[in-house]
Parts: sequence; C-alpha cells; structure tokens
Amino acid sequence: MATTTYQGLEVLLTREQIAERVRQMGEQITRDLAGEKLVMIGVLKGAAPFLADLARAVTVDTTFDFVAVKSYAKGRTSSGAVKLIKDVDEPLEGKNVLIVEDILDTGLTLTYLRKIFLQHHPKSLRIAALLDKPSRRIEQIEADYIGFSIPNLFVIGFGMDYAERYRNLPDICLMPPDIP
Ligand code: IMP
Ligand code: MG
Repeated sequence: MATTTYQGLEVLLTREQIAERVRQMGEQITRDLAGEKLVMIGVLKGAAPFLADLARAVTVDTTFDFVAVKSYAKGRTSSGAVKLIKDVDEPLEGKNVLIVEDILDTGLTLTYLRKIFLQHHPKSLRIAALLDKPSRRIEQIEADYIGFSIPNLFVIGFGMDYAERYRNLPDICLMPPDIP
C-alpha cells in the first residue's frame, strides 16, 4: 500500500478518516445522552481541534469548558507528575460531563482529571479520546469513546504536538525519528 505523506511526513490517519470517525463518535454520544444536556471539557491544547469537530457532530444541547494540565513532559517522555494549571470555569455538579482528550497514553492525565471532576459530583462523567495507545498504559483507565487505537508510535498533528510544533497539521502524522 502506498504511504500518504503531508509536507514530507508520513500520514497515519488522514483528515477524511478522522472526520468520518468523529462523525460516528458524535452520533454515539448523542444516542447515549438521550436528549440530556452535555458539558464538554477539552484538555488544552491538544484536544482543541478534536473538541471543535466532536462538538459539531453531536446534536444535544452542549456547552464547552477547558482545563489545562502540565505533565512535566519534555519532548517524548513524561516524568509521571501531573498538575492542573487551568481549572474549569463553571461548577459541574449534576451535569453530564464529557472529558475530551487528544490521546490516552499512560493514562496519568485522565486518571488525575477524572479524580478531580468526580469531586464535583457530576451526574455522569465520560471520556472521549481521539487516540488510544493501550500498550503504554501505567494507570488502569479506559475511555468511553475512542476514535482510533494505535500502536506505540509518537504522532503529531490534528492538535498533537512535538515541543509545541505541528499541532496545525490537518492529518495525524508520524513523528520522524531524526528530529531533535
Ligand atoms: P498520558 O497522561 O500519558 O495519558 O498522556 C496524555 C498526554 O500526553 C496527551 O494529552 C498528549 O498531550 C501527550 N501525548 C501522548 N502521546 C503522544 C503522542 O504520540 N504525540 C503527542 N502527544 C502525545
Ligand atoms: Mg495533551
């Protein structure tokens, strides 16, 4: 099979594949909410493009909020410690909350966020991750909605970065091994 490239980078998931999968996820989330309202909480910055598309793929009454976390990661490795650097603006008590994350990797970030959000006593708390790397898990946590399960590869684009670069690539690409 011929490899698709974008700006010289190997494409793992094309914008068309992502759009189709996000459309399906939106339908499933809409079904599961059965007419109830939703609060989507995007994890800055990587989840921004995914949240923008997913929010437009659901047809329930939806509001947005955002959190930012710092995971003491530089380049491709993480030390394991997570801290909240921007909290939600509105209380979540009694609400249907969907955490929207770009990628579920070791699970440290989402385990931390889930614990914090449960303290708000939401009506429901679910997780949507565009990508999942199950082989990398340190904390036992699963997303309720997963776009694509991928092997242990470092990816960039569609929100995901390498040292803050490449978030604006429209496709999900593989990080070339030879870039410092
Ligand atoms: P976790 O806490 O290890 O599950 O990692 C979550 C965060 O690590 C994600 O929100 C991403 O920001 C980052 N991350 C993990 N894998 C990748 C990758 O392949 N490319 C870019 N960022 C990644
Ligand atoms: Mg992230």
